[in-house]
Amino acid sequence: MNIRISQYSPIGIFDSGIGGLTVAKAVMDALPNEDIIYFGDSARVPYGIKSQETVRNYSNQIARFLLFRGVKMIIIACNTASAAAHDSVQALAGDIPVINVIESGTKAALRSGKKEIGVIGTLATIGSGAYEKALKEADQSLTVKSKACPLLVPLAEEGWLDNEVTRQTIEIYLEPFKSNGVEALILGCTHYPLFKQVIQDYFNDKKLELIDSAESVAESAKKRLAKLHLLNTAFSKGTLTCYVSDRPQRFNELAEQFLGREPESVHVESLRDFEDDFGGKMFKVAETAE
Ligand code: DGL
Repeated sequence: MNIRISQYSPIGIFDSGIGGLTVAKAVMDALPNEDIIYFGDSARVPYGIKSQETVRNYSNQIARFLLFRGVKMIIIACNTASAAAHDSVQALAGDIPVINVIESGTKAALRSGKKEIGVIGTLATIGSGAYEKALKEADQSLTVKSKACPLLVPLAEEGWLDNEVTRQTIEIYLEPFKSNGVEALILGCTHYPLFKQVIQDYFNDKKLELIDSAESVAESAKKRLAKLHLLNTAFSKGTLTCYVSDRPQRFNELAEQFLGREPESVHVESLRDFEDDFGGKMFKVAETAE
């Protein structure tokens, strides 16, 4: 399937829900001229407790939707989908680059030079061992300890970012990292950057480095697009167009929490037309125009 992309084509970002707007925000901060198409699978969230196969099927459907909209890059904002579906999404995307939060969070952790690394994420992300594998493959001398912190997702969605229940939950989940003297902690879930301050306060350790996978994937996107001569050099400010598979209760409130403002352009898309794998055809870049 031939597709035309140029520096003016949008960047596609997807997540299991609205939490990935933390990644959209980081990309907009790092690349303010870029147009972004965001897809949040709000009808089927959470991915974090589902099987790898289901998450892969959902992710492939979303990738086809984004590719048909002519994106020049796909960013997998969801850690769970990054672990389960990077390879299948890249296979569908063909020549279009696909980057994900696990890859870039791992790179950021390696850059930190820290040796004792902690990783927190959903049950599926931690169960996949994806961060641990990537870190150990890059540097065998690292000590990596991982822990699933599933309750942090509903707490973030409830807007309980800093109250007694949240602080206690964080203490219970993160105590083993504190007592083992972790030096860097990867926030391996779209929702966790919202707890940065509370986590920082809990550790009360200036030397602890919190690795925000949203910020690191935005940096990776910038570098990769520059390398491919696909950075949008227009002077105009980029746009954010959001698609969701369902418009849940409290959508605006939640979106604002993750994005820092209400998104202007939100459409509901069922993805029904993107279930088919089109005979497994890959997307090929027909021409990379200036
Ligand atoms: N987006 C998911 C992640 O980063 C968290 C929410 C979910 O479980 O779907 O892993």
